Amino acid sequence: MYVNKLKLNYFRNYEEQELELINGINLFLGNNAQGKTNIIESIYVSSFGKSYRAQKDSELINFHSDFCRIDLEYYKNSILKKNEIYIDHSKKIIQNDGIKVKKISDFIGEILIVIFSPDSLDIVKGSPSKRREFIDMILCQLSKSYLIASQEYMKCLKLKNAMLKKEKIDREYVHILNEKMSVYIKKIVESRKIIVEKLLNKAQIIENHLTNGKEKIDILYHTDFLGMTEQEILNYLDEHLYIEEMRKASIKGIQRDDFIICINGLEVNKFGSQGQKRTALLSLKLANFEVLKEEKNEIPILLLDDIMSELDNERIAFLLKYIENYQSIITTTEASFVKDIERIKILKVSNGRLEI
Ligand SMILES: Nc1ncnc2c1ncn2[C@@H]1O[C@H](COP(=O)(O)OP(=O)(O)OP(=O)(O)O)[C@@H](O)[C@H]1O
Ligand SMILES: [Mg+2]
Repeated sequence: MYVNKLKLNYFRNYEEQELELINGINLFLGNNAQGKTNIIESIYVSSFGKSYRAQKDSELINFHSDFCRIDLEYYKNSILKKNEIYIDHSKKIIQNDGIKVKKISDFIGEILIVIFSPDSLDIVKGSPSKRREFIDMILCQLSKSYLIASQEYMKCLKLKNAMLKKEKIDREYVHILNEKMSVYIKKIVESRKIIVEKLLNKAQIIENHLTNGKEKIDILYHTDFLGMTEQEILNYLDEHLYIEEMRKASIKGIQRDDFIICINGLEVNKFGSQGQKRTALLSLKLANFEVLKEEKNEIPILLLDDIMSELDNERIAFLLKYIENYQSIITTTEASFVKDIERIKILKVSNGRLEI
């Protein structure tokens, strides 16, 4: 799939801006604080219905307006489709191909994206929650039932934590929540296990290319629940209730899962060099792209925010070669890496305007 047209109305520092994109490399070039990442963000919002960097939807509205709109025109299986998002201070309306989206779970996965920004390094360097986010973002785009299972699980977890904070804990109520949660845990753990295997297969090939066979990447899925039946999961949760009562919080569940990333058998977070971490991340992100593409039979849109400055020349050359036949939206403050690329459109950004 690829985005054909993007129209922004009062989105972040844009007032009214319309632009056409090519099914190739779209390079947004400009100084700091001009509106490059805002373009990436608007496409992300079109895909997920919310931003990855705003606490509230209202932050997306231009300071001089009381609403914003993102209109996206895209080709999917050669069919032209439209997506519109309207946000004001009291509501958000998403329309896909003229039909109002009632539940976000009905919509996620329609516009496939892979986002790669300097913050993505947290997948390798940061807390387990960043790795869970990475895995969940792929799974949510692939499976509506996974998205619903994780939403329902989080609802139960919230209720359970609220109960555990109380003076007098209703154990029967917690047991009922544990019962519900064990169903979701089974589904989530199985899906996470499968996706890790698929990602790893792709990532190992890419890492091998990137390092001329010197480095082998591994992802080890850490969870308490691998291979357990629903009943075993429930027993395990119930058995830990007494500790949870003491701590006044849930201590067991898939919110504790982690995905340990290793290079040549060593945890990259602890022992990897800066370069190894970046290479591992590049392998993981391109593997993410490959898995989505294969599973959905659809080419995702690549959003690459300011990452060229993070990579060495060899990695940049590899990446550009890799993406040359797909659509990518790349932001950068300088374009010296652009050489011998056929399908490229350069769009200069200055103070919330594009010089087209
Ligand atoms: N709601 C808003 N209304 C108006 N302007 C906003 C709003 N939100 C953010 N901005 C402004 O948008 C500007 C551009 O932000 P953006 O993150 O796109 O910059 P950038 O071009 O990616 O810069 P950098 O190279 O530093 O990453 C910022 O100066 C910011 O203050
Ligand atoms: Mg930026």
